[in-house]
Amino acid sequence: MKEIFWDGRLETGHAVIDADHKNLIHLYNQVVSVANHQAGKLVCNNVLDRLIEHAKAHFEWEERLMIEYAYPEKEQHIAQHEALIRQAMNYRLDPGSSDSRMPLVELSEHWLTHHMVTADQQLTSYLAAVVPSGGATDT
Ligand SMILES: [Fe+2]
Ligand SMILES: [Fe+2]
Repeated sequence: MKEIFWDGRLETGHAVIDADHKNLIHLYNQVVSVANHQAGKLVCNNVLDRLIEHAKAHFEWEERLMIEYAYPEKEQHIAQHEALIRQAMNYRLDPGSSDSRMPLVELSEHWLTHHMVTADQQLTSYLAAVVPSGGATDT
């Protein structure tokens, strides 16, 4: 399992969204770290819960922007957010199981970065076209 490093490909150009994404990557890397160090289930679940909590808040913020600026792809984007949270929840370790490691390879490849470079970049392109600030001051 590898950490994700921020680079230009992940950038959407929207200051608030990029700042949130950097924070989510930071939290994701903490999950990778505890998983790689084979920390106990409670610790793994706690850091994963922190990532999920921040991801939910970020997704809700993006969804408010979509509603406010009548984003035409809103339904599909929100459905992706819901699926991402469900997928992340699946990585929580069952306290009663014998598994002690988190299978995060899939999560690293698709869960975080794929959504950023596809759906979120489409959203920010739309916002840049319809509102001069890109909605960046609406937090
Ligand atoms: Fe999104
Ligand atoms: Fe996002």
